[in-house]
Amino acid sequence: MAHYRIALLPGDGIGVEVIGEAVRVLAAVGGRFDHSFEYSEDLVGGASIDAHGVALREETLEMCRAQDAVLFGAVGGPKWDDPAATVRPEQAILGLRKGLGLFANIRPVKMLPFLVDSTPLKRETVEAIDMVVLRELTGGIYFGEPQRRWEEGGQRHAVDTLAYSEEEVERIVRLGFETARGRRGLLTSVDKANILDTSRMWREITEEIASDYPDVTLEHRLVDACAMDLIRHPAWFDVIVTENMFGDILTDEASMLAGSMGMLPSASLGAAGSVGMYEPIHGTAPDIAGQGIANPAAMILSAALMLRYSLNLEAEAAVVEAAVSEVFAAGNLPADLAAAGSEPLGTEVLGELIAERVARG
Ligand code: IPM
Ligand code: MG
Repeated sequence: MAHYRIALLPGDGIGVEVIGEAVRVLAAVGGRFDHSFEYSEDLVGGASIDAHGVALREETLEMCRAQDAVLFGAVGGPKWDDPAATVRPEQAILGLRKGLGLFANIRPVKMLPFLVDSTPLKRETVEAIDMVVLRELTGGIYFGEPQRRWEEGGQRHAVDTLAYSEEEVERIVRLGFETARGRRGLLTSVDKANILDTSRMWREITEEIASDYPDVTLEHRLVDACAMDLIRHPAWFDVIVTENMFGDILTDEASMLAGSMGMLPSASLGAAGSVGMYEPIHGTAPDIAGQGIANPAAMILSAALMLRYSLNLEAEAAVVEAAVSEVFAAGNLPADLAAAGSEPLGTEVLGELIAERVARG
């Protein structure tokens, strides 16, 4: 029996509800494939601020470093929303990315047939959507120094810094080429090279790396035009690679194309050998938290990505993904997807159905 150690960081809001369903489904995976999963759980985000005064403790980071992978729910909520606060729930996620060296955020966006009518776009536009967005995660304007506010001449001033090194660009762009090579062979690099020096450097480095990948077609798009093309012809895209903040914005946009944020998982990976982190792309959904109606799919599918990327269990990952698709396609739908007038299923019931499907094989 193979044994895996997983850090469980539920966070706040619906993060707490959906992560339990990922654990339930992993138990079914363990039963069917003879693996055991051992969990070390800790508070992060608002829950950690309430208990310890900080969003992420050093000892939590240390605990995560000693595991095979990290499952993360979501952090934040109205209680901790004061923009002037120096301690904020989001610091947990940024601290984990930086502290674990997770420079690549992988967000697959694929149209699931039963969701074709839940998107705001026309059926023929969305039907063939199948892309992966690779977002750089530990550089750019999120982390650049200086970042501060000050007062001068009776005015408030603030500065953020967008900085990248060659190494930071190269490792994510290479991953982009590798990913495209394993798929349809089209890499779209997104920047703002008409304005930003970081983008001009990004483009230059990407062009240089392209010569190592003659089998991949490289195209460059400016981020504003790319935002438009994602709506106009989303099925064009295969692999998109971009810097931190452009990726933050484009991945939210891309998630709407596929019908629901509640369906989309993500993986955050570092250099070979480092601990990966897996989380749904949705947030804590304070409006529905505590009601047991959140869609657990994105969290369960994030656990599937963990099986694939961190634990090297491809068959197990595929079984979980197929189970989610089958359960949903059979009309068992959570509140965010159920048609008006039909009775939606709750978080736990859906988790149980998916776990049963996994166990049955
Ligand atoms: C995301 C989120 C985070 C980000 C926040 C919560 C810090 O929006 O993962 O996309 O901006 O990266
Ligand atoms: Mg975001």
